[in-house]
Amino acid sequence: MPALQKLKEKYIWISHFSSAFELLQWDMETHMPRKGGKWRAQILGSLSEFIQAQQTSAEMGQLLSEAEKEAESEEDRALVRVAKKEYDKFKKIPPELWGKFALETARAQRIWEDAKRESDFSIFSPQLEKVVEIVKELAERVGYEENRYDALLDFFEPGLTVKDLDNIIPKLREFLINVLEKIENSGKPKDVFLGEFDLGKQKELSKRVLEVIGYDFEAGRIDVSAHPFTITISHGDVRVTTRYDEKDLKYSFFSTVHEGGHALYEQGIPESFRGLPIGDGASMGIHESQSRFWENIVARSRPFWEFFKPILVEYFESFKDVPVDDLWRASNLVKRSLIRTESDEVTYNLHIMLRYEIEKALINDEMKVKDIPSVWNEKMKEYIGVVPEKDSEGALQDVHWAHGSFGYFPSYMMGNLYAAQIFYALRKDLDFDGAVKSGNFKSILDRLREKIHIHGKILEPKDLIKRATGEDFNIEHFMNYIKEKYSEVYRISL
Ligand code: CO
Repeated sequence: MPALQKLKEKYIWISHFSSAFELLQWDMETHMPRKGGKWRAQILGSLSEFIQAQQTSAEMGQLLSEAEKEAESEEDRALVRVAKKEYDKFKKIPPELWGKFALETARAQRIWEDAKRESDFSIFSPQLEKVVEIVKELAERVGYEENRYDALLDFFEPGLTVKDLDNIIPKLREFLINVLEKIENSGKPKDVFLGEFDLGKQKELSKRVLEVIGYDFEAGRIDVSAHPFTITISHGDVRVTTRYDEKDLKYSFFSTVHEGGHALYEQGIPESFRGLPIGDGASMGIHESQSRFWENIVARSRPFWEFFKPILVEYFESFKDVPVDDLWRASNLVKRSLIRTESDEVTYNLHIMLRYEIEKALINDEMKVKDIPSVWNEKMKEYIGVVPEKDSEGALQDVHWAHGSFGYFPSYMMGNLYAAQIFYALRKDLDFDGAVKSGNFKSILDRLREKIHIHGKILEPKDLIKRATGEDFNIEHFMNYIKEKYSEVYRISL
């Protein structure tokens, strides 16, 4: 058998263990009894160590170098390139370190839940210190050119560096703080999504909106978790989670659509790529561009509410007399808020910048874990103008650090920026508003499939964006999008 064929079969075999890992992870966050936590953390640690050892075995290294000579198609060459990059990277990480990472982050997640419930960062701090030490060691093992944090960014957004971010962020921050001030001085739309909303009905509505945008329920399901996420167990099994608030309908609605966007991407990756290193999204940032696209650009548009209002009324009659404009404006309320996941498009990236700066400092030994809450509060005041009174609404709000996902947050920002660029590119040959207004989401999904989804991880983010939009990555699109949209929502000039 040719080495390339053997390599593919081996990857698919390993991916079966990853599927088991993902299913246990999903279960841990949705259904597992509390007392199972300690053992589950150990099980995940062992599985992860096993997978890591398989992926970095000498046999894989041998197969990879032989397969490199056989690969001819663009697909096979990309497979070998991506696989080799990952192999070389993970080969540098000893399986014990990887196992320790999985074990300590699983522990950290349980401790984070307790700390968040008690709203006390000091409960989480010692465990987070352990995680940060492991992450720093990972970065050192993997290596980097300029900044230790670059090694971590590369896990989530290949090619993105501290240098790139430090180029984008000051300009974007100034722009957003300025927009925020202008919005602050204008009239506030009423939040029509506040009231009493039956949880059962909300669950049905969540399913309905996912169906409407094209999510395939025969290849997925929706459950409840503390922090919403999307997870691919295998091809044909892409699950989402959400959470509900009886008094705030938009809380679950937009996070459901967000995860739906991630899931549409995953459901659009070709089966022939599955189990292979190219059978993933191009990057976390590109992934986030898809979730943000559906959440913000589609579901927070006026045409969306023109289409969706009658459906909403089927579930909640109280919206019968609410004008479409009010629904649209209420879905775009800009607020100086404490919580990232509830924040709007104007303040969202400011939340990310704060996290990025803290992470960069922690990883480069310029800051201590125990000082996170005080630095957090200072930056919140400076960027967003509000300060949390409790840690649960401050530094404990996100699960990412418990997961050891340092370097992840910037990909959220990149996602917002990519999404706007993709939007303007799609609008060139598609009557976007018309499609949304008539509920023809398929015409939009088809284009995203063709331009983004079907390529899996064959292209790096920068190349994918260039091919999909016809130009290099450019943050002007996002700034234009914000100006165009929010001057309408708030009836001001930006
Ligand atoms: Co997301």
